[in-house]
Amino acid sequence: AAAEKGGYPTFMEKEIEEQPRAVADTLLGRTDAEGNLSLDELRIPEEKLRAVERVTIVACGTAAYAGTVAKYAIEHWTRIPVEVALAHEFRYSDPIVDERTLVVSISQSGETMDTLMAVKHARDLGALTVSVCNTLGSTIPRESDAALYTHAGPEIAVASTKAFLAQIAACYLLGLYLAQLRGGAYAEDPQAVMKELHDVPDKIAEVLRRMDRVKEIARFMADTRAVLFLGRNVGFPVALEGALKLKELAYIHAEGFAAGELKHGPIALIEPGQPVFIVVPGPDTPHELHRKVVSNIQEIRARGARTIVIAQDGDTDVEPYADEVIRVPHTMPLLQPLLTVVPLQVFALHLSTAKGLDVDQPRNLAKSVTVE
Ligand code: AGP
Repeated sequence: AAAEKGGYPTFMEKEIEEQPRAVADTLLGRTDAEGNLSLDELRIPEEKLRAVERVTIVACGTAAYAGTVAKYAIEHWTRIPVEVALAHEFRYSDPIVDERTLVVSISQSGETMDTLMAVKHARDLGALTVSVCNTLGSTIPRESDAALYTHAGPEIAVASTKAFLAQIAACYLLGLYLAQLRGGAYAEDPQAVMKELHDVPDKIAEVLRRMDRVKEIARFMADTRAVLFLGRNVGFPVALEGALKLKELAYIHAEGFAAGELKHGPIALIEPGQPVFIVVPGPDTPHELHRKVVSNIQEIRARGARTIVIAQDGDTDVEPYADEVIRVPHTMPLLQPLLTVVPLQVFALHLSTAKGLDVDQPRNLAKSVTVE
């Protein structure tokens, strides 16, 4: 087993380090010489994809958070409405799905029973089904009309890391492909986004080189009882994922919120010393979201929160209100989750280690949940 871990103490550490590769491999071979996306592997006739009127993403856990990132990106690039549904909720609701609905399932294992049931249900209702999956030949892609594989390589640790990044990357590809197929005035130039996306693996590697302080913070926080995570737009699912990682790995009560929701309730939780991670959108994010999140940090800091801020290089606006600043390189706003989630994974892993817990096999959990 030691050899399988490639010199790392745990599979999870190895898999976190493999993330630049996981994203690069997922992007590999999916553009032609001109930089256009070519996803012939989908084997769904282009006219069927052009006719898609809505997209529903079904998944569970971390995969569902990848789906939430995808919603923001696909809607922005294609102007097709995208809904994200937890697979087990979708299956037993009365979903509005027809032949013009593209149901995208996301699953690392391809064996999650809840997700499989949702896919079968969608297919029975006449939807086009695409499986974003990391496991070749697994059940969900076999039961779907088409598969778009993530090439993260086998993920052994129960807590998903590299598969999450690869899922997000694959969903970007799908969104940009739909945008390219449909053309139209709305679309951001898919080629320009792809160019930026190809630079992301090196930036993930850069984030990984900067993790010493995050590890230190994790060690200092071994006795922490509750941690909050805030984000907006694509930073919102990143906050949810940061909280899930901490629950799974360190058994600490953690919650993620959309930062705009603070004043509608959660701000009552803030008391002196409460640690809060804030995922800050880049200053170039539309709708002045950067300024709005900075003012959220200011509000909670004024109430005594201990603010641990994830911000882009060069963003000095956060400094007056941050107890800690964790820096990530610049990328376009919609691609930021591939960078900003990494410190949260590293934090959860090292907090778990500091508590002496089993990082790869947290209590009560299984790598793939094959029962409903
Ligand atoms: C992630 O850390 C979890 N262990 C879990 O939420 C997981 O993402 C979920 O069970 C879905 O699994 P799948 O991707 O294999 O379908």
